[in-house]
Amino acid sequence: MSRGIFVTGTDTGCGKTHVAQALIRALRARGLRVAGFKPVAAGADWCDGELRNDDALALKREAGHAAAYATINPYCLEAAVAPHLAAAEAGVAIELGVILAAYAQLAARSDVVVVEGAGGWLVPLGPGLDMQGVALALGLPVLLVVGLRLGCLNHALLSERAILAGGGRLLGWIGSQVDPGMARLNGNVATLTERLGAPCLGVIAHPASRERLDPPRPLTLEGL
Ligand SMILES: Nc1ncnc2c1ncn2[C@@H]1O[C@H](COP(=O)(O)OP(=O)(O)O)[C@@H](O)[C@H]1O
Ligand SMILES: [Mg+2]
Repeated sequence: MSRGIFVTGTDTGCGKTHVAQALIRALRARGLRVAGFKPVAAGADWCDGELRNDDALALKREAGHAAAYATINPYCLEAAVAPHLAAAEAGVAIELGVILAAYAQLAARSDVVVVEGAGGWLVPLGPGLDMQGVALALGLPVLLVVGLRLGCLNHALLSERAILAGGGRLLGWIGSQVDPGMARLNGNVATLTERLGAPCLGVIAHPASRERLDPPRPLTLEGL
């Protein structure tokens, strides 16, 4: 088991938080102390004079970790837009050093840190910095969440290529069915399994899925 896992995805809204929460639950069920980490979030609400992002709150709740909110989510940007635009609007420069320091604090008080990116692998964060840069600087192996909906095959294949080309260590992929009406769910999962080089570490079907996942593919922590 790695000390940390970087959860990226094929897109925004592809199921990264959903999968990260499932992963945190599974790790906690093994008796591990887990921290969630959302280094950069764009899209936040004011709560008692401070900005709070739903993903970071969900990860914090799921992990039950005592760390301060600002450690779990060092960059919490108000506008729900591309992070580099949200940061520029807020007059904030996203710095790797701040992210690494927050991660180190979490890692010191947990067995595993589950890190959720923002958007996909190459999302820009500012001049000369993108999400890939954060994952590589953290030195963490990568888990690719494939949001199961029409278009996911191309997004998944492109993401895998980009992760490997950038020097990321891809542990595997997890499918998350964001569209309950997705046609040919099983055909798409079979194609992903065939064409992605990385192993499938599970598929989370939508509870209202039109098509039943067959065979079921429970989340596996093997290889993580
Ligand atoms: N496997 C799934 N089953 C049911 N709903 C899902 C599943 N995966 C994602 N969702 C829903 O889809 C939406 C987007 O998922 P989310 O995890 O927030 O994506 P991301 O973190 O990549 O932006 C959320 O409303 C989430 O609850
Ligand atoms: Mg999310």
